[in-house]
Amino acid sequence: MNKPKINIISSGKYLPKDKITNQDLEKMVDTNNEWIVSRTGIVTRHKATHETASEMAYLAAKAALDKANFSPDQVDLIIVATITGDQMTPSTANLVQKKLGIEHECMSFDINAACTGFVYGLEIASQMLASKKFRSALIIGSERLTSVTNYEDRNTCVLFGDGAGALLIEPSNSNKHEAYFFNTAKPDVDDSLTVRQYIEMDGRKVFLFAVDVIKRSIERILEDANLTKDAIDVFIPHQANIRIIQAVSKAMDIPMEKFVVNIEHYGNTSAASIPITLSEYLDANPPKNQRVLMVGFGGGFTYGSAIITT
Ligand code: COA
Repeated sequence: MNKPKINIISSGKYLPKDKITNQDLEKMVDTNNEWIVSRTGIVTRHKATHETASEMAYLAAKAALDKANFSPDQVDLIIVATITGDQMTPSTANLVQKKLGIEHECMSFDINAACTGFVYGLEIASQMLASKKFRSALIIGSERLTSVTNYEDRNTCVLFGDGAGALLIEPSNSNKHEAYFFNTAKPDVDDSLTVRQYIEMDGRKVFLFAVDVIKRSIERILEDANLTKDAIDVFIPHQANIRIIQAVSKAMDIPMEKFVVNIEHYGNTSAASIPITLSEYLDANPPKNQRVLMVGFGGGFTYGSAIITT
């Protein structure tokens, strides 16, 4: 198996200032704080006002670059995972490149793999960096989901929020930086989770799918990497519902303390959820050889995992 070696340089996030609380939602639809907290774990989510997906992506990328004092002149690849890009073309990544003032040869493009987008993007970037044609890469997840949320549908409107997270990586020569990936998709013919004008979904079906594939995806990547679950320091799952994470914790006998969870504050931010959570984890835990397993799942259905070492 081809195992690209990547070094994490930095990470960043951006969350818009405005928030939608459970109390705000109580005024919009027939719901209540107790139901939302007990069924999802969500208390607030952020809402973009003037910020587009490209603006949030840029601000998360800039936070990552500034943190490491890393010049955009060294960035040769930008991948943005999003389902709520500003427009069809130029891509969100093209707009980020422009906002960063990058005028040298740099490849930038978007990918759409719904909530798994960041994990797919990380694999694409890692494989491209292994070619040694790119000095460093920004992988960004950015979403403005409130613009595709129907605030008359209580089944969905309590779940989603806006934000962006970014990871800056470079090729490495060290064996300790070998990255592992397992990514796949299982076409859903029943339209269980779609975004046409608005997000529409069969919540129960998506819930059961998520618990099943998170478990399978974790087991599969551990097998490929020849590691046991005990060799993983932390698990960063896509933040969709606290009960999905609790169900995986129970089914796999992995303590909840090993899962990094922030859904309470942000809700489900689709492709942005894993990089936002990773960025918060890296800020709180400066690199010291920890193995991080990220696992995403979402519309498509798509799902996948990545193991990287900090
Ligand atoms: N407030 C109050 N009641 C609500 C509600 C809300 N916001 N949303 C739904 N309900 C009601 C339903 O109408 C249903 O009522 P009924 O029994 O009278 O029909 C009841 O609550 C239970 O609905 P159910 O769908 O069984 O709830 P659930 O336990 O599955 O929770 C979700 C619903 C959406 C929170 C849950 O299914 C979920 O999180 N699914 C995964 C969603 C997801 O992760 N999507 C993105 C994937 S990337």
